[in-house]
Amino acid sequence: MPSEGLILGIETSCDETSAAVVKRGGEVLSLVISSQAGLHARYGGVVPEIASRAHLETLLPAVREALGEAKAGYEDLAGVAVTRGPGLIGALMVGLNAAKAISFALGIPLLAVNHLEAHIYANFLQFPELAPPLLAFVVSGGHTLLAYMPRHREYRVLGETLDDAAGEAYDKIARFLGLGYPGGPEIERVAVRGNPDAIPFPRALIRDGNYNFSLSGLKTAVVNYVRRREEEGEPVKVEDVAASFQAAVVDVQVYKIARAADEYGVERVVLAGGVAANRFLRERLGKELLRRGVRLYYPSPSLCADNAAMVAYLGWRMLEDGETSSLAVDAAAVLPLGARLP
Ligand code: KG4
Ligand code: ZN
Repeated sequence: MPSEGLILGIETSCDETSAAVVKRGGEVLSLVISSQAGLHARYGGVVPEIASRAHLETLLPAVREALGEAKAGYEDLAGVAVTRGPGLIGALMVGLNAAKAISFALGIPLLAVNHLEAHIYANFLQFPELAPPLLAFVVSGGHTLLAYMPRHREYRVLGETLDDAAGEAYDKIARFLGLGYPGGPEIERVAVRGNPDAIPFPRALIRDGNYNFSLSGLKTAVVNYVRRREEEGEPVKVEDVAASFQAAVVDVQVYKIARAADEYGVERVVLAGGVAANRFLRERLGKELLRRGVRLYYPSPSLCADNAAMVAYLGWRMLEDGETSSLAVDAAAVLPLGARLP
Protein backbone atom coordinates (compact mmCIF):
# COMPACT_ATOMS: atom_id res chain seq x y z
CA MET A 1 0.00 0.00 0.00
CA PRO A 2 1.42 3.43 -0.87
CA SER A 3 2.09 5.75 2.02
CA GLU A 4 -1.25 7.44 2.52
CA GLY A 5 -0.47 9.04 5.81
CA LEU A 6 -2.19 6.67 8.18
CA ILE A 7 -2.38 7.33 11.92
CA LEU A 8 -1.86 4.49 14.39
CA GLY A 9 -3.81 4.99 17.62
CA ILE A 10 -2.97 3.36 20.94
CA GLU A 11 -5.15 3.38 24.07
CA THR A 12 -4.17 1.82 27.41
CA SER A 13 -5.51 4.24 30.03
CA CYS A 14 -7.65 1.76 31.95
CA ASP A 15 -8.69 -1.84 31.32
CA GLU A 16 -9.02 -1.82 27.53
CA THR A 17 -5.98 -2.48 25.34
CA SER A 18 -6.80 -0.95 22.00
CA ALA A 19 -5.06 -0.20 18.71
CA ALA A 20 -6.55 1.33 15.58
CA VAL A 21 -5.53 2.59 12.17
CA VAL A 22 -7.32 5.69 10.92
CA LYS A 23 -6.86 7.46 7.59
CA ARG A 24 -6.27 11.19 7.45
CA GLY A 25 -9.75 12.67 7.46
CA GLY A 26 -11.15 10.04 9.78
CA GLU A 27 -11.91 6.79 7.97
CA VAL A 28 -11.39 3.96 10.47
CA LEU A 29 -9.51 1.15 8.69
CA SER A 30 -9.25 -1.06 11.76
CA LEU A 31 -10.11 -1.04 15.45
CA VAL A 32 -8.93 -3.75 17.83
CA ILE A 33 -10.21 -3.67 21.41
CA SER A 34 -9.03 -6.28 23.87
CA SER A 35 -10.98 -6.00 27.10
CA GLN A 36 -9.51 -7.09 30.41
CA ALA A 37 -12.94 -7.03 32.07
CA GLY A 38 -12.70 -10.79 32.70
CA LEU A 39 -9.46 -10.33 34.67
CA HIS A 40 -10.93 -7.64 36.93
CA ALA A 41 -14.48 -9.02 37.31
CA ARG A 42 -13.77 -11.01 40.48
CA TYR A 43 -12.53 -7.84 42.19
CA GLY A 44 -15.57 -5.76 41.13
CA GLY A 45 -13.29 -3.02 39.77
CA VAL A 46 -10.06 -2.45 37.89
CA VAL A 47 -6.88 -3.55 39.70
CA PRO A 48 -4.13 -1.19 38.42
CA GLU A 49 -1.27 -3.69 38.69
CA ILE A 50 -3.18 -6.37 36.79
CA ALA A 51 -4.15 -3.80 34.14
CA SER A 52 -0.53 -2.74 33.50
CA ARG A 53 0.67 -6.32 33.14
CA ALA A 54 -2.16 -7.24 30.80
CA HIS A 55 -1.46 -4.18 28.59
CA LEU A 56 2.19 -5.28 28.33
CA GLU A 57 1.13 -8.69 27.04
CA THR A 58 -1.64 -7.54 24.73
CA LEU A 59 -0.53 -4.24 23.22
CA LEU A 60 1.94 -5.30 20.53
CA PRO A 61 -0.28 -8.15 19.27
CA ALA A 62 -3.15 -5.61 19.13
CA VAL A 63 -1.00 -3.16 17.13
CA ARG A 64 0.02 -5.94 14.70
CA GLU A 65 -3.59 -7.01 14.33
CA ALA A 66 -4.75 -3.44 13.70
CA LEU A 67 -2.08 -2.92 11.02
CA GLY A 68 -2.92 -6.30 9.46
CA GLU A 69 -6.64 -5.57 9.31
CA ALA A 70 -5.90 -2.18 7.75
CA LYS A 71 -3.62 -3.95 5.23
CA ALA A 72 -0.93 -1.49 6.26
CA GLY A 73 2.66 -1.67 7.44
CA TYR A 74 4.68 0.56 9.73
CA GLU A 75 6.01 2.33 6.61
CA ASP A 76 2.50 3.66 5.87
CA LEU A 77 2.24 5.55 9.14
CA ALA A 78 2.36 9.34 9.22
CA GLY A 79 2.03 9.55 12.98
CA VAL A 80 1.38 7.59 16.17
CA ALA A 81 -1.26 8.85 18.57
CA VAL A 82 -1.50 7.63 22.14
CA THR A 83 -3.45 8.43 25.28
CA ARG A 84 -1.20 10.36 27.63
CA GLY A 85 -3.76 10.74 30.44
CA PRO A 86 -5.85 10.95 32.51
CA GLY A 87 -5.91 7.32 33.62
CA LEU A 88 -4.04 4.68 35.60
CA ILE A 89 -0.41 5.75 35.57
CA GLY A 90 1.15 2.31 35.07
CA ALA A 91 -1.38 1.43 32.35
CA LEU A 92 -0.78 4.73 30.54
CA MET A 93 3.00 4.21 30.61
CA VAL A 94 2.74 0.94 28.69
CA GLY A 95 0.95 2.61 25.77
CA LEU A 96 2.96 5.82 25.88
CA ASN A 97 6.33 4.04 25.88
CA ALA A 98 5.29 1.78 23.03
CA ALA A 99 4.17 4.82 21.03
CA LYS A 100 7.43 6.66 21.77
CA ALA A 101 9.41 3.65 20.55
CA ILE A 102 7.39 3.49 17.32
CA SER A 103 7.71 7.24 16.81
CA PHE A 104 11.48 7.18 17.38
CA ALA A 105 12.14 4.07 15.29
CA LEU A 106 10.12 5.30 12.31
CA GLY A 107 10.94 9.00 12.66
CA ILE A 108 7.23 9.91 12.65
CA PRO A 109 5.44 12.41 14.93
CA LEU A 110 4.22 11.40 18.36
CA LEU A 111 0.75 12.74 19.15
CA ALA A 112 0.06 12.56 22.90
CA VAL A 113 -3.68 12.76 23.39
CA ASN A 114 -5.94 13.74 26.29
CA HIS A 115 -8.28 10.80 26.88
CA LEU A 116 -11.28 13.00 27.77
CA GLU A 117 -10.85 15.05 24.63
CA ALA A 118 -10.57 11.84 22.58
CA HIS A 119 -13.92 10.67 24.03
CA ILE A 120 -15.48 13.96 22.86
CA TYR A 121 -13.87 13.59 19.43
CA ALA A 122 -15.43 10.16 18.97
CA ASN A 123 -18.52 12.22 18.09
CA PHE A 124 -16.72 14.19 15.36
CA LEU A 125 -15.30 10.95 14.04
CA GLN A 126 -18.75 9.43 13.78
CA PHE A 127 -20.68 12.52 12.62
CA PRO A 128 -18.60 14.45 10.06
CA GLU A 129 -21.25 17.20 9.84
CA LEU A 130 -21.00 17.94 13.58
CA ALA A 131 -19.33 21.23 14.55
CA PRO A 132 -18.96 23.47 17.62
CA PRO A 133 -20.28 25.46 19.43
CA LEU A 134 -21.70 22.69 21.57
CA LEU A 135 -21.89 21.23 25.05
CA ALA A 136 -19.99 18.04 25.83
CA PHE A 137 -20.94 15.76 28.69
CA VAL A 138 -18.13 13.30 29.44
CA VAL A 139 -19.33 10.42 31.61
CA SER A 140 -17.11 7.42 32.19
CA GLY A 141 -15.69 5.18 34.89
CA GLY A 142 -13.32 7.94 35.94
CA HIS A 143 -15.08 11.18 35.00
CA THR A 144 -18.25 13.20 35.06
CA LEU A 145 -17.65 16.54 33.39
CA LEU A 146 -19.76 19.10 31.57
CA ALA A 147 -17.91 21.45 29.20
CA TYR A 148 -18.84 24.22 26.79
CA MET A 149 -16.89 23.97 23.53
CA PRO A 150 -17.08 27.26 21.57
CA ARG A 151 -14.58 26.13 18.90
CA HIS A 152 -12.64 23.02 18.01
CA ARG A 153 -10.23 22.00 20.78
CA GLU A 154 -11.31 24.79 23.17
CA TYR A 155 -13.20 24.03 26.36
CA ARG A 156 -14.70 25.80 29.30
CA VAL A 157 -15.31 23.23 32.03
CA LEU A 158 -18.66 24.16 33.61
CA GLY A 159 -18.81 21.47 36.26
CA GLU A 160 -17.42 18.16 37.43
CA THR A 161 -18.15 15.49 39.98
CA LEU A 162 -17.28 16.36 43.55
CA ASP A 163 -16.84 12.69 44.45
CA ASP A 164 -17.63 9.56 42.41
CA ALA A 165 -17.68 9.49 38.62
CA ALA A 166 -20.98 8.25 37.23
CA GLY A 167 -19.53 4.95 35.93
CA GLU A 168 -17.77 4.37 39.24
CA ALA A 169 -21.08 4.76 41.09
CA TYR A 170 -22.80 2.36 38.68
CA ASP A 171 -19.98 -0.15 39.20
CA LYS A 172 -20.08 0.14 43.01
CA ILE A 173 -23.86 -0.14 43.26
CA ALA A 174 -23.88 -3.09 40.85
CA ARG A 175 -21.32 -4.82 43.01
CA PHE A 176 -23.31 -4.08 46.16
CA LEU A 177 -26.45 -5.51 44.52
CA GLY A 178 -24.57 -8.67 43.51
CA LEU A 179 -24.67 -7.84 39.78
CA GLY A 180 -21.74 -8.34 37.39
CA TYR A 181 -18.85 -6.12 36.29
CA PRO A 182 -18.74 -3.65 34.60
CA GLY A 183 -21.75 -2.50 36.54
CA GLY A 184 -23.27 0.13 34.23
CA PRO A 185 -24.62 -2.25 31.59
CA GLU A 186 -25.78 -4.65 34.37
CA ILE A 187 -27.74 -1.92 36.21
CA GLU A 188 -29.27 -0.83 32.91
CA ARG A 189 -30.25 -4.40 32.00
CA VAL A 190 -31.90 -5.09 35.37
CA ALA A 191 -33.50 -1.62 35.61
CA VAL A 192 -35.56 -2.25 32.47
CA ARG A 193 -37.75 -4.60 34.54
CA GLY A 194 -38.00 -2.23 37.53
CA ASN A 195 -39.97 0.85 38.49
CA PRO A 196 -37.85 4.04 38.41
CA ASP A 197 -40.33 5.76 40.77
CA ALA A 198 -40.41 2.94 43.33
CA ILE A 199 -37.87 4.45 45.75
CA PRO A 200 -37.36 8.23 46.12
CA PHE A 201 -33.54 8.34 46.22
CA PRO A 202 -31.93 11.80 46.64
CA ARG A 203 -31.08 14.02 43.66
CA ALA A 204 -27.95 15.77 44.97
CA LEU A 205 -27.19 19.37 43.96
CA ILE A 206 -30.07 19.37 41.49
CA ARG A 207 -31.17 22.93 42.22
CA ASP A 208 -27.84 24.31 43.39
CA GLY A 209 -27.39 26.62 40.44
CA ASN A 210 -24.01 25.11 39.49
CA TYR A 211 -22.98 22.34 37.11
CA ASN A 212 -21.29 20.08 39.63
CA PHE A 213 -22.40 16.56 40.43
CA SER A 214 -22.24 14.41 43.56
CA LEU A 215 -23.14 10.74 43.89
CA SER A 216 -21.77 9.74 47.30
CA GLY A 217 -25.04 10.59 49.10
CA LEU A 218 -27.04 8.59 46.58
CA LYS A 219 -24.73 5.60 47.01
CA THR A 220 -25.18 5.72 50.79
CA ALA A 221 -28.95 6.06 50.40
CA VAL A 222 -29.07 2.91 48.25
CA VAL A 223 -26.97 0.93 50.73
CA ASN A 224 -29.05 2.14 53.70
CA TYR A 225 -32.31 1.35 51.92
CA VAL A 226 -31.25 -2.23 51.13
CA ARG A 227 -29.84 -2.86 54.63
CA ARG A 228 -32.97 -1.51 56.29
CA ARG A 229 -35.24 -3.74 54.18
CA GLU A 230 -33.06 -6.75 55.01
CA GLU A 231 -33.09 -5.96 58.74
CA GLU A 232 -36.86 -5.65 58.67
CA GLY A 233 -37.10 -8.99 56.87
CA GLU A 234 -38.66 -7.32 53.84
CA PRO A 235 -37.80 -8.53 50.34
CA VAL A 236 -35.53 -6.31 48.24
CA LYS A 237 -36.61 -5.93 44.66
CA VAL A 238 -33.28 -5.49 42.90
CA GLU A 239 -34.99 -4.35 39.69
CA ASP A 240 -36.68 -1.46 41.52
CA VAL A 241 -33.48 -0.47 43.35
CA ALA A 242 -31.53 -0.45 40.07
CA ALA A 243 -34.23 1.49 38.21
CA SER A 244 -34.68 4.05 41.01
CA PHE A 245 -30.91 4.50 41.37
CA GLN A 246 -30.48 4.99 37.61
CA ALA A 247 -33.40 7.47 37.55
CA ALA A 248 -31.82 9.51 40.37
CA VAL A 249 -28.47 9.66 38.53
CA VAL A 250 -30.02 10.55 35.18
CA ASP A 251 -32.53 13.10 36.56
CA VAL A 252 -29.75 15.36 37.83
CA GLN A 253 -27.71 14.94 34.65
CA VAL A 254 -30.66 15.77 32.39
CA TYR A 255 -31.71 18.76 34.50
CA LYS A 256 -28.24 20.30 34.55
CA ILE A 257 -27.38 19.65 30.90
CA ALA A 258 -30.71 21.14 29.78
CA ARG A 259 -30.09 24.22 31.93
CA ALA A 260 -26.59 24.63 30.48
CA ALA A 261 -28.02 24.26 26.95
CA ASP A 262 -30.39 27.14 27.75
CA GLU A 263 -27.68 29.27 29.33
CA TYR A 264 -25.17 28.82 26.49
CA GLY A 265 -27.75 28.81 23.70
CA VAL A 266 -26.22 25.78 21.99
CA GLU A 267 -27.97 23.76 19.30
CA ARG A 268 -25.95 20.60 19.87
CA VAL A 269 -24.99 18.45 22.84
CA VAL A 270 -22.63 15.48 22.64
CA LEU A 271 -22.32 12.58 25.07
CA ALA A 272 -18.93 10.94 25.50
CA GLY A 273 -17.40 8.12 27.56
CA GLY A 274 -18.53 4.66 28.57
CA VAL A 275 -21.68 5.79 30.42
CA ALA A 276 -22.85 7.53 27.21
CA ALA A 277 -23.90 4.01 26.18
CA ASN A 278 -26.71 4.19 28.77
CA ARG A 279 -30.01 4.14 26.86
CA PHE A 280 -32.04 5.60 29.72
CA LEU A 281 -29.76 8.67 29.74
CA ARG A 282 -29.82 8.97 25.94
CA GLU A 283 -33.60 8.76 25.74
CA ARG A 284 -34.42 11.06 28.65
CA LEU A 285 -31.85 13.64 27.64
CA GLY A 286 -32.70 13.41 23.93
CA LYS A 287 -36.38 14.14 24.70
CA GLU A 288 -35.63 17.03 27.05
CA LEU A 289 -33.28 18.63 24.52
CA LEU A 290 -35.62 18.07 21.58
CA ARG A 291 -38.25 20.23 23.32
CA ARG A 292 -35.67 23.03 23.11
CA GLY A 293 -34.76 22.34 19.49
CA VAL A 294 -31.37 21.04 20.61
CA ARG A 295 -29.95 17.89 18.99
CA LEU A 296 -28.22 15.17 21.01
CA TYR A 297 -25.32 13.19 19.53
CA TYR A 298 -23.66 10.09 20.93
CA PRO A 299 -21.22 7.62 19.41
CA SER A 300 -22.05 3.98 18.68
CA PRO A 301 -21.24 1.66 21.62
CA SER A 302 -17.75 0.64 20.43
CA LEU A 303 -16.79 4.33 20.08
CA CYS A 304 -18.34 5.24 23.48
CA ALA A 305 -16.16 2.82 25.38
CA ASP A 306 -12.38 3.21 25.53
CA ASN A 307 -11.02 2.71 22.03
CA ALA A 308 -7.98 3.68 19.97
CA ALA A 309 -9.96 4.95 16.95
CA MET A 310 -10.95 8.11 18.83
CA VAL A 311 -7.31 8.50 19.90
CA ALA A 312 -6.02 8.15 16.32
CA TYR A 313 -8.67 10.54 15.03
CA LEU A 314 -7.85 13.25 17.57
CA GLY A 315 -4.15 12.59 16.83
CA TRP A 316 -4.80 13.30 13.16
CA ARG A 317 -6.48 16.60 14.04
CA MET A 318 -3.52 17.51 16.26
CA LEU A 319 -1.15 16.71 13.39
CA GLU A 320 -3.20 19.04 11.15
CA ASP A 321 -2.90 21.72 13.84
CA GLY A 322 0.88 21.16 13.99
CA GLU A 323 0.59 20.06 17.61
CA THR A 324 3.08 17.21 17.84
CA SER A 325 4.58 16.00 21.12
CA SER A 326 8.13 15.66 22.36
CA LEU A 327 9.49 12.21 23.18
CA ALA A 328 10.03 13.59 26.69
CA VAL A 329 6.27 13.84 27.34
CA ASP A 330 5.17 12.05 30.52
CA ALA A 331 2.09 10.04 31.28
CA ALA A 332 -0.31 11.97 33.51
CA ALA A 333 -2.77 10.33 35.91
CA VAL A 334 -4.56 13.68 36.19
CA LEU A 335 -4.89 15.83 33.08
CA PRO A 336 -7.42 18.67 32.76
CA LEU A 337 -9.47 19.00 29.60
CA GLY A 338 -7.93 21.53 27.21
CA ALA A 339 -7.05 25.12 27.88
CA ARG A 340 -9.62 26.68 30.14
CA LEU A 341 -11.16 29.76 28.63
CA PRO A 342 -11.66 32.82 30.84
O1 KG4 B 1 -15.06 5.35 29.14
P1 KG4 B 1 -14.96 3.99 29.77
O2 KG4 B 1 -14.97 2.78 28.86
O3 KG4 B 1 -13.69 3.90 30.64
C1 KG4 B 1 -13.21 5.00 31.37
O4 KG4 B 1 -12.50 5.85 30.75
O5 KG4 B 1 -13.58 5.07 32.56
O6 KG4 B 1 -16.17 3.88 30.81
C2 KG4 B 1 -16.37 2.70 31.57
C3 KG4 B 1 -17.54 2.92 32.51
C4 KG4 B 1 -17.76 1.80 33.51
O7 KG4 B 1 -17.89 2.36 34.79
C5 KG4 B 1 -19.07 1.17 33.05
O8 KG4 B 1 -19.82 0.61 34.11
C6 KG4 B 1 -19.78 2.36 32.45
O9 KG4 B 1 -18.76 3.06 31.76
N1 KG4 B 1 -20.84 1.95 31.51
C7 KG4 B 1 -22.15 2.21 31.69
C8 KG4 B 1 -22.83 1.62 30.60
N2 KG4 B 1 -21.90 1.02 29.79
C9 KG4 B 1 -20.69 1.26 30.36
N3 KG4 B 1 -22.78 2.89 32.65
C10 KG4 B 1 -24.12 2.98 32.58
N4 KG4 B 1 -24.85 2.42 31.58
C11 KG4 B 1 -24.26 1.74 30.57
N5 KG4 B 1 -24.96 1.19 29.60
ZN1 ZN C 1 -12.62 6.44 28.87
